[in-house]
Amino acid sequence: MADFRRIGVLTSGGDAPGMNAVIRAVTRTALAKNIEVVGIVGGYSGLIEEKLIPLVSHSVSNIITKGGTFLYSNRCLEFKTEEGIEKAIATCQKYNIDAIVAIGGDGTFRGATELAVRGIPTIGITGTIDNDITASDYTIGFDTAMNTVIDVVDRIRDTCESHARCNVIEVMGRDCGDLTLQAGIATGAIAICIPEVPFDEQLAIDKIKSSLVKGKRGMVVLVSEGVYKIDENGKKIRYGEVLANHIQQETGVETKFARLAHIVRGGSPTLRDRLTATRMGAKAVELLLEGKSNLVVVEKDDVIDSEDIVYALTLDQMYKGRLKDGDLDRFTPEQIAKMEASCKERKDKITALYELSYNVCN
Ligand code: F6P
Repeated sequence: MADFRRIGVLTSGGDAPGMNAVIRAVTRTALAKNIEVVGIVGGYSGLIEEKLIPLVSHSVSNIITKGGTFLYSNRCLEFKTEEGIEKAIATCQKYNIDAIVAIGGDGTFRGATELAVRGIPTIGITGTIDNDITASDYTIGFDTAMNTVIDVVDRIRDTCESHARCNVIEVMGRDCGDLTLQAGIATGAIAICIPEVPFDEQLAIDKIKSSLVKGKRGMVVLVSEGVYKIDENGKKIRYGEVLANHIQQETGVETKFARLAHIVRGGSPTLRDRLTATRMGAKAVELLLEGKSNLVVVEKDDVIDSEDIVYALTLDQMYKGRLKDGDLDRFTPEQIAKMEASCKERKDKITALYELSYNVCN
């Protein structure tokens, strides 16, 4: 068992409901093993600027119910520089922080690796509403965000029904369509548009027209924020607003547009997020005690497990089609084959769900 006196915990990148529940689980699991805990305030900037608070058991009382992150978060540019990383390492040395648990998305894990390779054992935990960490079936915050989307879309649908309107609703998720697709199915969206699957606009418009003929009044269409069109000036524009205009022009139905944006990121975490956060937080401390580092805690087939961070980040790049020359050099052919299989599995899953949505949402 590795010997730690004090560990640090931070949240970085976009906040997600359930991050507080992770901080609580990390703190209490560590305290139970007689390890001190410090909260690093404001993500990696807090490490650079020495913004640290001691966490005792009552520091994390009642935070499991709260959205956001009580340690605050940001996307720290300074930590991307060698100077910033050195300052962060100096803080760890000065305050005897023996290891760090970093909660966030892929940017957070890149930061965690920088610390790990410089000798600070680090474990990442997936906290993002996007569910876009390919190595994990689930990221903390996704369920809460999805339920928020459902709640808001249901409300919009009520008014669409009253006024015989259509509403195109843009949903967060960066390049990942999981939030849009799953919430779209759950709200009976007549059309769903996500980055991972080609969208046939004409087919969607025909579907709307034929539903109108059958007497349908209110309709909602869900579009991921990650779907873009290029306008006449060569500028990248989000597709949701464009689609709303096209639907109105082509069908004659009054069509409104709504961007849910950050509404989706707040709120009290659901059971699933509180529980997963608790399990993942405890797992991170256990991994550190086993002497492990540079891992990200993941959920695979309902089991809380871990994956090498660099492997997980590379797998993500592969899934998103962003691999650069040399990215795969450090991996064995078996590992590369495993990555390819994971990408295929994920792609097949989302495609199958999309096809299902097409038949059941009318
Ligand atoms: O990664 C979470 C997320 O909310 C994405 O869905 C979205 O694209 C992005 O963060 C928005 O970032 P910011 O809060 O910095 O505007």
